Amino acid sequence: MRLILLGAPGSGKGTISADLVESYKIVQISTGDILRNAVASGTELGLKASDYMKRGDLVPDDVIIGIIKDRLKEQDCANGFILDGFPRTLAQAEALKKMLADMAITLDSVIELQVPEEMIVDRIANRRTCSNTSCQAVYNVKSKPSKIEGICDICGGKLIQREDETREKVERRLKDYRDKTSPLIEYYKNEGLHSAVENLDIAKAIAGVKKVLNG
Ligand code: AP5
Repeated sequence: MRLILLGAPGSGKGTISADLVESYKIVQISTGDILRNAVASGTELGLKASDYMKRGDLVPDDVIIGIIKDRLKEQDCANGFILDGFPRTLAQAEALKKMLADMAITLDSVIELQVPEEMIVDRIANRRTCSNTSCQAVYNVKSKPSKIEGICDICGGKLIQREDETREKVERRLKDYRDKTSPLIEYYKNEGLHSAVENLDIAKAIAGVKKVLNG
């Protein structure tokens, strides 16, 4: 199973990926998680990405494309993968198409998660993320609280708000989604791969995604 989860910031890509990883025994490749990990570890990639991420801007295409090219070659991708947060521009989509052709593999599906923008700002304001960069589990104070307030159920790490979660930065990220990422909907419709699933209720959204994947 190889799929792309497409959707605005806070549309539920990470939350739904966590379920699919368990259900289909595939890996989640989240460019956001990879970048946050790199920033926290102070690697060369982290230094390149940090300022863009703090502003809520997209990291340059060449940096992201290089990350995915290396990641897809890793052994654990052989069983299938979810691309969460990639591609986000037409240039990234074209690069991915070439990469997959070179590896002689194809995508099964591109699923767009649809959520009204006014709900997104609220969800992100209430999101908490595990600060342990090898975990980064996602919670929500309202809709998915941890068992102990401020502590990750999985690894016991401290739950934090991300630096890009202020209203101003979320609005900036939403604008980027409208301008640069939403054209991918038409792109993947033309490729015959696109389906849309509404994420108003998490259980229903997961069921909707699985219905698409199971044909
Ligand atoms: P990234 O980490 O990818 O951020 P994002 O796409 O903006 O997505 P989010 O992680 O904010 O949200 P999500 O869709 O995963 O939603 P979640 O499941 O958490 O990227 C961060 C930054 O990295 C970018 O801004 C950019 O700088 C850089 N970057 C990354 N990839 C890049 C690329 N390809 N090119 C260039 N730059 C790149 O859900 C949100 C909240 O809602 C959670 O609290 C969850 O519990 C809750 N929730 C989910 N569904 C429901 C529901 N149905 N009901 C109630 N609550 C719900």
